[in-house]
Amino acid sequence: MSRLVVVSNRVAPVEEGKQAAGGLAVAVLAALKRTGGIWFGWSGTVVDGDTPQTPASAVHGRLTYTMLDLGRRDFEEYYNGFANQTLWPLFHFRPGLTSISRRNRAGYERVNGFFAAVLAPMLKPDDMVWVHDYHLIPCGRKLRALGCRQRMGFFLHTPFPAPEVLKILPNHRDLVEDLCAYDVVGFHTAADLRCFVNYVLLDAGGMVDPHPDGGVVVRAFGRTLLARAFPISIDTAALERTAETNARSRHAERLRESLVGRRLIIGVDRLDYSKGLPQRFEAFEAFLESYPEHRNRVSFLQIAPPTREEVPEYITLRRELSEKAGRVNGRFAEFDWVPIRYLNKSFGQRVLAGFHRQAAVGLVTPMRDGMNLVAKEYVACQNPQDPGVLVLSEFAGAAQELTEALIVNPYEVEGVADALQRALTMPVEERRERHAALIATLRRNDIGAWRETYVRALTKAPYQ
Ligand code: UDP
Ligand code: G6P
Repeated sequence: MSRLVVVSNRVAPVEEGKQAAGGLAVAVLAALKRTGGIWFGWSGTVVDGDTPQTPASAVHGRLTYTMLDLGRRDFEEYYNGFANQTLWPLFHFRPGLTSISRRNRAGYERVNGFFAAVLAPMLKPDDMVWVHDYHLIPCGRKLRALGCRQRMGFFLHTPFPAPEVLKILPNHRDLVEDLCAYDVVGFHTAADLRCFVNYVLLDAGGMVDPHPDGGVVVRAFGRTLLARAFPISIDTAALERTAETNARSRHAERLRESLVGRRLIIGVDRLDYSKGLPQRFEAFEAFLESYPEHRNRVSFLQIAPPTREEVPEYITLRRELSEKAGRVNGRFAEFDWVPIRYLNKSFGQRVLAGFHRQAAVGLVTPMRDGMNLVAKEYVACQNPQDPGVLVLSEFAGAAQELTEALIVNPYEVEGVADALQRALTMPVEERRERHAALIATLRRNDIGAWRETYVRALTKAPYQ
């Protein structure tokens, strides 16, 4: 069997709970845990001076981590700069937050070239290379330029923007040509795939034909590849078990005692502007305003570990959220009740599972999100006999699959407030029915199915 070589900027921490992982790292770790392979990427460490030339390797079970540190300039231009101030906002439909800089773009190309140069000599002829996310789009083409003929796939963990938005990027054509250097390009949803196909047809002069297994065969830039939606998921069965065993863990008990019988609404998100946190706090405020019977009867726990802390937009957001939480609490708090418990720290998956299980509502309201694993995790953690209700933004990729959630438009805070009311007063039969449908979807398309479907598609390459 071919060896799977996964390449991503973020690599999962070896010890669980060491840092706020983010969806990519959580999902790739779950996907690789059992099958094993190589995971190549950034160590998370920034060093003074240039990026060091040699990676460090560590073996954990069947998984080998090979990781590079980043020099300060590369970290700033490639990671903080082009990846997180250009591609991230643009791919989340936020042109107003997108900065365009030739220097950062050059840094992005340089680090991609460097990753490819370090990786190329490590590859065996029948390896399958699987590159992940917006940080490393050019990596495949750079590997090909170094003579690598292996099967290569790419998976985008963010949304893919409509061509009109993508074209804000001066090098949009290069980026799409980079994507076409892979044999398989995967997106979360059919909508993302459609945006890519529209660009290929209307702007790149390419052609597409449906593929019998799903997706389309794309011919563009002298290459033939498969482009297809592969909605990412979670390790459903494992998380269901974890939630059951952690329902009475020390952390879960402490949370339960602190609530003294009040009901819990939970939000778990990196502190990112794509997650709609200011609007969520406003929605909770509107809920307390419109439905005063819930005052002192409901607590909203928002876990929001800081992320990308050197990027100015994230610094501004953090300040804004502290002020908003303070304002709502100042307005509604009682001497024995704080409406919003707002925490800037991260928790491990087991602790989160115990928290999700006691929450009557999972509040997941991103303004735009590739998939959003938290929504899926919340569902998997529920007690099927007495499940909580997922309130989910229509702009999360997960809304395409989790149709039995209460679907909301996060821009309309009164609508989200009404959904909270509906969730908290929903009869148990309806909650069970919705949960049964949601969990069936997640059992069918779990992380194993995602990995297998993708790897099967990559095994069939090259596409002609
Ligand atoms: N997460 C975590 N600890 C935290 C906060 C988040 O382990 O304190 C995990 C969460 O359980 C989920 C991932 O980080 O698996 C977030 O993925 P999601 O797709 O929801 O959003 P992303 O952060 O990738 O934008
Ligand atoms: C999202 C991105 C991932 C990223 C994660 C955490 O899920 O799609 O590529 O790893 O956020 O962000 P960070 O910048 O800490 O890696």
